[in-house]
Amino acid sequence: MKATIALLPGDGIGPEVCAEARKLLVAVATRFGHQFEISEGLIGGCAIDACGDPLPAETLARCREADGVLLGAVGGPRWSDPNAKVRPEQGLLRLRAALGVYANLRPVVPHPEVARQSPIKSKLLRNVDVLFVRELTGGSYFGAKRREGDAAIDECRYTVGEIERVTRQAARLARQRRGKLTHVDKANVLETSRLWRATVSRILRDEFPEVTLEHVLVDAMAMYLLTRPASFDVILTENLFGDILTDESAVLAGSMGLLPSASLGEDGRGLYEPIHGSAPDIAGRGIANPYATLLSVAMLLRHSLKLEAEARAIERAVRQALDDGVWTADLRRRGAVCTRDAGDAVLARLTATAEAAAA
Ligand code: IPM
Ligand code: MG
Repeated sequence: MKATIALLPGDGIGPEVCAEARKLLVAVATRFGHQFEISEGLIGGCAIDACGDPLPAETLARCREADGVLLGAVGGPRWSDPNAKVRPEQGLLRLRAALGVYANLRPVVPHPEVARQSPIKSKLLRNVDVLFVRELTGGSYFGAKRREGDAAIDECRYTVGEIERVTRQAARLARQRRGKLTHVDKANVLETSRLWRATVSRILRDEFPEVTLEHVLVDAMAMYLLTRPASFDVILTENLFGDILTDESAVLAGSMGLLPSASLGEDGRGLYEPIHGSAPDIAGRGIANPYATLLSVAMLLRHSLKLEAEARAIERAVRQALDDGVWTADLRRRGAVCTRDAGDAVLARLTATAEAAAA
C-alpha cells in the first residue's frame, strides 16, 4: 500500500528514538512491499526556537494530510520557565485537539523477564494485560484557564457527547478483549465524574450488555493498580486521571521506555507517541530506549493503516529483542545497549520473522 506518515521528532530524546522508528518504517516497507512517504515536521521547543510557535501551521498541515502521525516527545528545561507565554506542551495539546484524537489507548503488558526489574513483586505481574483508554481532548487540560487576583482557575468541563464517544471506543475494545471495563472517576466529589458515571453506565447498559462494567474511585485505583493489576482489562478514564494513572502503570512494565500509545479520532487517522516524554537528562547521549516508539509504529500500522500482520511482526520482534536481553540503560546497568543497537536488534528480528512468515 501507499501511505504518508508525518514524523515529528520534537525535543530531548525524541529525535533519537524517531531515527529508529524511521529505520523501522523503511524496513517494513521493503519487507512487506509498501510505499511509505515520510514527511518530517517541527513541534514543541525546537519549533519555538525555529519560528516562535510550538505547532507551526506547516506542521499541522502535514499532519492533516498524513495517514498517520508519529511523534517523539516535546518539552525540556530550556522552555520550562513557568512565566513563559509559549510552551512546547501547547504544541502537543493543540495538535491532539486539531486532529480530534479524543481516545488515547495505552496498553500495558509487562514482558516477563523485564518485569523482574519492576519494584512490584513478580507474582503480582503475572497475566497483567491492561489497556487504558484515556479521554484526551477535554477536561481540565482544555478548560478555561485564568487568574483572578491571587487565585488561579482551571475549568474542568465535559459534555455528554464527549463522554459517549470515548466510552463507545473503550467498550468496543473491551468486547474484543476479555469483556471487562473499569471506569475510573471521583464521583464522590466531582460533578464531572457524576456525569461520566451516569453516561458510561447508560451506554454500557443500552449498547454493550455483554461487557461487564465496574466503577472505581481514582484514589482507590492508584492503589489497586499496584496491588492487583491483573484484575483489570480495559480502564476508561478522563484526561488528567489518565495522565497520572498511565505513568503509574509504567512501573508495572519495568520502564517508561516500553510503553507506546495511540490517539484515535473518528476517521481512523491517529497520532502515535511513546508515553515517556523528552527525558532531557539523557537526551543526546544515544542511550534512550527506542522500544516504546517502535511499538507506537506498530500501533500506527494497526489502527491507521490496517496492517495487522506488520504490526504483529514489529511487536514480535521487540518481544524477541527483549527475550534476548537486548536492553537499554533504563532496564539494566551492566551490558546495556545503545539506542541504535536496540533499534538494529529489532530490525534484525523483523527481517527474520517476515521471512519466516513468507516461507
Ligand atoms: C502525556 C504527557 C502530556 C500530557 C504532556 C507532555 C502535556 O504527559 O502524553 O502523558 O500530560 O498529556
Ligand atoms: Mg503524561
